[in-house]
Amino acid sequence: MIVDPREIKTMDLHAYMLSSIAPRPIAFASTIDKNGNPNLSPFSFFNAFGSNPPIVVFSPARRVRDNTIKHTLENIYDTKEVVINAVSYAMVHQQSLASCEYAKGVNEFEKAGFTAVASQIVKPFRVKESPVQMECKVLEVKETGTQGGAGNLIICEILLMHIDDNILDEHGKIDQHKIDLVARLGGDWYCRASGDALFTVPKPLAKQTSIGVDALPQNIKQSHVLSGNNLGQLGNSESLPDGDEIKNFAESEEGKIILRDLQIKDENVIHQAAKKLLEQNKTREAFCLLMMSTMQ
Ligand SMILES: Cc1cc2nc3c(=O)[nH]c(=O)nc-3n(C[C@H](O)[C@H](O)[C@H](O)COP(=O)(O)O)c2cc1C
Repeated sequence: MIVDPREIKTMDLHAYMLSSIAPRPIAFASTIDKNGNPNLSPFSFFNAFGSNPPIVVFSPARRVRDNTIKHTLENIYDTKEVVINAVSYAMVHQQSLASCEYAKGVNEFEKAGFTAVASQIVKPFRVKESPVQMECKVLEVKETGTQGGAGNLIICEILLMHIDDNILDEHGKIDQHKIDLVARLGGDWYCRASGDALFTVPKPLAKQTSIGVDALPQNIKQSHVLSGNNLGQLGNSESLPDGDEIKNFAESEEGKIILRDLQIKDENVIHQAAKKLLEQNKTREAFCLLMMSTMQ
């Protein structure tokens, strides 16, 4: 299927974009109007774009339905301040309730049952229940169009971050499990960044460059067993294992057990065993085993 934005209704294009550009973090934006009335709304057109200065951008878009603009945007034009609150699983339903199109001046802190806490630098309130609250000043608003569906990029600088001590690990860093963030996808879909949804991928080597998938021996690259992810893991190595390393692996306890069980010298069987090692993040061991199959 091909989607040409010029030949499709904005509403439908919007749906294709939101389902495929996902999951998106949620900026739970707290603003005030020029009379000091609080407003609180979620926006998933949101991300971080630099840390020096610390810049985040979110976008209250023009309504596709009637091309009107959102209260958050009106408030930003009037007061140029916002508190962006992170959204954890524990608050996702209340957060959703705050996205109701209440009349101007209605306080969504009250409607959604959140606790408003005074900020230290800016006037808008923080959401007490949110694990991270960022006090921001608005540097610029970039309108990307004038039709319904057009974005309004609110470029913000973070002035102060408030981080709940309960989500920190013993090194004072945010524990990705404890913060338990949620993100938005298409339609009514959300996802929760916890449990099995969380996994780590070792960053490519900082000092030395990784060898890359193209440097892998032909029979490994063309394996019927190894997946693209497996090849990516191997390609992230700093070197091909040499003879000594392979010999050491073959003589190690683990190597001996694997090789004893691998009675059949079928390449696919060896690749299956290597795949298992890769799934346990034993990349070097897997690489040695694969190289042994290459040398056969
Ligand atoms: C999780 C979530 C994410 C949303 N993201 C956006 C967004 O990025 N841009 C947008 O214009 N509206 C978004 N909305 C809809 C707004 O929150 C909704 O229109 C809200 O009523 C705007 O409130 P306001 O008029 O008080 O600013 C989102 C709603 C939810 C529940």
